[in-house]
Amino acid sequence: MEKLKYHFGKLKINKNKKTPMVQEVFSKISQKYDLMNDLMSLGFHRLWKKELIEIMNIENNENIIDIGAGTGDLAFQIYKKNPNAFVTSVDLNLDMLKVGLEKKKKNKCNNIFINANAENLPFKNNSFDKYVISFCLRNITFMETALDEALRVLKPNGIFYCLEFSSPKLKSLSKFYDFYKSKIIPKIGKYIAKNEDAYNYLDQSISMFPNQELLKAILIKKGFNNVSNINFFNGIVSLHIGYKTI
Ligand SMILES: C[S@@+](CC[C@H](N)C(=O)[O-])C[C@H]1O[C@@H](n2cnc3c(N)ncnc32)[C@H](O)[C@@H]1O
Repeated sequence: MEKLKYHFGKLKINKNKKTPMVQEVFSKISQKYDLMNDLMSLGFHRLWKKELIEIMNIENNENIIDIGAGTGDLAFQIYKKNPNAFVTSVDLNLDMLKVGLEKKKKNKCNNIFINANAENLPFKNNSFDKYVISFCLRNITFMETALDEALRVLKPNGIFYCLEFSSPKLKSLSKFYDFYKSKIIPKIGKYIAKNEDAYNYLDQSISMFPNQELLKAILIKKGFNNVSNINFFNGIVSLHIGYKTI
């Protein structure tokens, strides 16, 4: 019998099942995704993304790939910061991309939306100056394949940025945070997005994701150089940075 090594939240599943299960979640919540982000994080996700873009220090004419772009938040914020950079927003989920395209009609932005899988990107080697992935890595079935793809499409000296939920350092905060994400967030999901299960998945997928040190070790093992991380909110969210120096 096949050993079940893959997870959808806490559920052990066959490796072929994770991607469709995750995609079903995002299709179901796509219309409420932005509202839920604002409610769950009390608007702080905007600050985390703003901080990420500050740190990315985007220069004119840079080519940036935003993986798991969802409804396009990062592209719109990057355009406000530097309209002379160019963002390719990639997501596997057409329903999330549709919301992004609607938002693009209201937001001035030069980004393009592409429907593709982070594990198999339709771009040539050495195409992008910066690769950014925000709150998506946790959802990818074959994370290491996606990291290989990140290295492949980055130009030499290109920079990888991963913004993701991680592990708070303070024990007291950790207890409160566990309660908030396992008990409160799914209830907000139930009333606002009419989908408690999707937000139980969010809670469990965060708990199962490698902590700061483990993720750094994975990035180093994959071949990124000068790997570091910056914690936001005591480590509830962490930004991992790595370089392609070959
Ligand atoms: C939590 S949302 C993040 C959206 C946006 N980056 C943000 O920060 O708000 C995760 C997104 O990753 C996408 N995703 C999950 N697995 C993917 C994959 N293998 N390739 C591309 N996108 C993927 C989902 O469809 C979803 O839109």
